[in-house]
Amino acid sequence: MKSLKLLAGKEGSSRRTFFRRLGLGALFAALAGQAYALLRSLVPNVLYEQPQKFKIGTPSEFPEGVTFLEDRRVYVFRDQNTFHTVSAVCTHLGCTVKMVNLNQPRKVAVGGREIEEAQEFHCPCHGSKYYGDGTNYAGPAPKPLACFQMEVSPDDGQLQIDLGQTVGRDVRLSV
Ligand code: FES
Repeated sequence: MKSLKLLAGKEGSSRRTFFRRLGLGALFAALAGQAYALLRSLVPNVLYEQPQKFKIGTPSEFPEGVTFLEDRRVYVFRDQNTFHTVSAVCTHLGCTVKMVNLNQPRKVAVGGREIEEAQEFHCPCHGSKYYGDGTNYAGPAPKPLACFQMEVSPDDGQLQIDLGQTVGRDVRLSV
């Protein structure tokens, strides 16, 4: 009789241990699931950033003069067989600068040298003004508009702009 009671007591205690372990396992699984969900929410499913380097078409697709790439906020200049870019992002607070065609080309002194300009860039937000080469000369803009590296893609001959690489404002790509 006594040994039967002992046996029943042992069974009860091992059942309690089993359920306690099961409960703890479920608790840890739930905590791990919550932690994973929290960490996963910090990582976006899709990266919406556009690539810094992109193709814009073959040189022959660009007319003489200036083409505005609105979605990239870049002006592309073509002067016969040479190309260069000027950023449309104002260096004050990032508004898009507008190109203003001058009635007739004029010469301006920029950094000790004279350049001829046929257009300028004006910012509609706080009135910054830039010469045709992107040099700032009026308003709160602290520095010139950026100029980006251009190259011809060896794959298919398209022009390629790299927004991650700035170049001097005299740099031209010859095609
Ligand atoms: S953002 Fe262009 S002048 Fe302020």
